Amino acid sequence: MGIIKKFRIKTFKKNKPKIELKNISLSFNKRQILDDISLSIQEGEICGILGPNGVGKSTLFNIMIGLLKPDFGKVFIDSLEVTDIPIYRRALDFGVCIVPQSGGIFSELTCEENLKSIAEIMFKNKSEIIFNVENMISKFQLESVKKIKGKFLSGGQKKRVCIAMALISNPKIILMDEPFQGLDLMTTRELQETIVNLQTEDNSRCCIISDHAARDLLAISDKAIVIANKKIVAKGSPSELVINQNAKSVYFGDSFKIN
Ligand SMILES: Nc1ncnc2c1ncn2[C@@H]1O[C@H](COP(=O)(O)OP(=O)(O)OP(=O)(O)O)[C@@H](O)[C@H]1O
Ligand SMILES: [Mg+2]
Repeated sequence: MGIIKKFRIKTFKKNKPKIELKNISLSFNKRQILDDISLSIQEGEICGILGPNGVGKSTLFNIMIGLLKPDFGKVFIDSLEVTDIPIYRRALDFGVCIVPQSGGIFSELTCEENLKSIAEIMFKNKSEIIFNVENMISKFQLESVKKIKGKFLSGGQKKRVCIAMALISNPKIILMDEPFQGLDLMTTRELQETIVNLQTEDNSRCCIISDHAARDLLAISDKAIVIANKKIVAKGSPSELVINQNAKSVYFGDSFKIN
């Protein structure tokens, strides 16, 4: 992963908040999931979110995209409060996109039609739609399955279509909930490079990724957090995080290493 890291050091430069969570708390049916979570992700930054199953990582993503409203706390994008702004406006006006943990594609549509369904919302003329769909098909090596319905794709192919659907809209805030799940080794490596390149293409973007493939995630993260017991219990650069005692005791264990 040396090449990716060297590349990141050259291209990561900004220090301007893109998306911020301030004092977020949320309960489901009186069961508190998140308690006073504050987090600021800068333009050009890749932030990893780690934590045990059921700790609230996907819930936090849903708060960021506008699918869930927190009980307390506020969400800001480009320093504007968006807590009450609905999901579709966050997508269209602020370029928020998500690769969900599961689902995310239409099972009765082909791979190509799935991509077209998003392209038709984002682009005006037919040639732009065709160009962008073809571009994603080639970028994610989906040529051989482009006429196959979503329900017949393999797990990894579905994931790739889903990621391509998120990226086709030229997003500014890219949320990925377990993007490496089900991907083979080479596709994982390619996705890591794609994520890093997204920032090179546009330095105002940020990317927030949750995944239990912690090594793959930390290899491309500028910083990461660990959530446990409703709170952020550790944060820092990947190398700081893996030696953090809180992070070790709730998530990594004692023998985890990144190199
Ligand atoms: N709509 C809902 N109603 C009630 N409880 C919910 C709802 N959505 C999530 N939860 C609960 O909130 C908690 C956090 O769920 P979440 O999916 O955010 O966890 P996670 O950290 O993403 O876990 P994983 O690593 O398994 O994906 C879980 O206990 C889950 O059961
Ligand atoms: Mg989850």
